[in-house]
Amino acid sequence: MREKIVIGNWKMNTSISEAKQLVEELNKANKNNTKTAVLVPSLYINALQNLANKSIHIGAQNVSSFEKGAFTGEISAAMLNSMQVEYVAIGHSERRTIFNETDNIISEKIKISLENNLKPILCCGEALEVRKAGDFLDFVGKQIDFVLEKITANDMKNIIIAYEPIWAIGTGETASAAQAQEVHIYIRNIVKKHFGNEIADKTTILYGGSVKPSNAAELFAEQDIDGALVGGASLNAQSFIDIINANNG
Ligand code: 13P
Repeated sequence: MREKIVIGNWKMNTSISEAKQLVEELNKANKNNTKTAVLVPSLYINALQNLANKSIHIGAQNVSSFEKGAFTGEISAAMLNSMQVEYVAIGHSERRTIFNETDNIISEKIKISLENNLKPILCCGEALEVRKAGDFLDFVGKQIDFVLEKITANDMKNIIIAYEPIWAIGTGETASAAQAQEVHIYIRNIVKKHFGNEIADKTTILYGGSVKPSNAAELFAEQDIDGALVGGASLNAQSFIDIINANNG
């Protein structure tokens, strides 16, 4: 009913030759044509698009909140659209914490991405202190509310949400399937509150944070986990393929 997808986030990794090799291995392995995407360093987008088969979408990890002009070093939503990029990650915890991106900036990025026909992957998730204090549902809910109250139901159809608890990113410590499911259903209910049942049921909600071949199937078995946003394990073709296949089973 709703689209299932596994998305790799390469972050600031790979040389161009490593990147090409990874895509070539994914091409060979992805025999059942399961839809997947990899968010690659922007510099490599064009070269990798020319290599990837049609089931592997080459996406971006970031986009400017500004339209165009004197913003040295930035890449605009219009530029990504002109390169036929479909997916862009917005609000990743590394952007929020290391690059000081606020909910306001994230909301601007979502808006300009939608205006330029991109599909934003809106990331949310709490830090360990918030989890320990027991406030995580409220915390994540506010991150999502902030964006959703500024968009339309039609916009929502083009957004993927990714729940990535910060304490599980790159730490080897995954949220249990039950912990992830608890937040996913909470997020789906927020979508429902804003846009109703039908759109909430169709919204793809991904889990991210130390997803590996060994824990993927258990996570994907949950009702409201529609795929994964994979960091470290997406840098190895075989482990990424194993995760993609687990989402199919
Ligand atoms: P890891 O899979 O390396 O924990 O990273 C998750 C992530 O941040 C994906 O965006």
